[in-house]
Amino acid sequence: MTVVLMGFMGAGKSTVGYMLAEKLGLPFVDIDILIEHRTRRRVRDIFSEDGEAEFRRLEHEAIVEVLSGTDAVVALGGGAVEHPGTREALRNVIAVHLEVSYEEALLRIGNDDLRPMMARPDIRDVYDRRLGVYSEAADFSVKTDLRRPEEVVEELAGNLSLGKPSG
Ligand code: S3P
Repeated sequence: MTVVLMGFMGAGKSTVGYMLAEKLGLPFVDIDILIEHRTRRRVRDIFSEDGEAEFRRLEHEAIVEVLSGTDAVVALGGGAVEHPGTREALRNVIAVHLEVSYEEALLRIGNDDLRPMMARPDIRDVYDRRLGVYSEAADFSVKTDLRRPEEVVEELAGNLSLGKPSG
């Protein structure tokens, strides 16, 4: 079983993903970290030097490769689902939307300069647009506002044990 965590920046994908992987006895892959290791560059620098489109290409490539490998818990970057090919690749795994409100995301990450997307003046529109994309791609969602990662992991693991919902 491969479980993929999607959601906006600050949803807790990396924290929850790591904990869920421990619980399930599966490896954990954080796509942003994988890209940084491979390119030996920070995500922020890829954005500023080569542009967002190049980052999305590297991101898609890494995701397709990871999803075709052994079972794992995989945390995607917040914008990964904007790539149609990535959405297609998610059909074969259990895709979970970790939901965070815009206000809580801002509280959690503030103006983190490691996250170039947060500097966009239209970031609120990006948030609104992505909400629909996440829920469309997700097998189920788990709310994270005002909840500790342990609670989120518990609900998520409970849903997984019920099996992948059809449809
Ligand atoms: C991005 C989210 C980041 C990272 C990159 C772009 C986005 O990941 O992939 O900065 O477009 O929302 P996190 O969601 O883990 O912060």
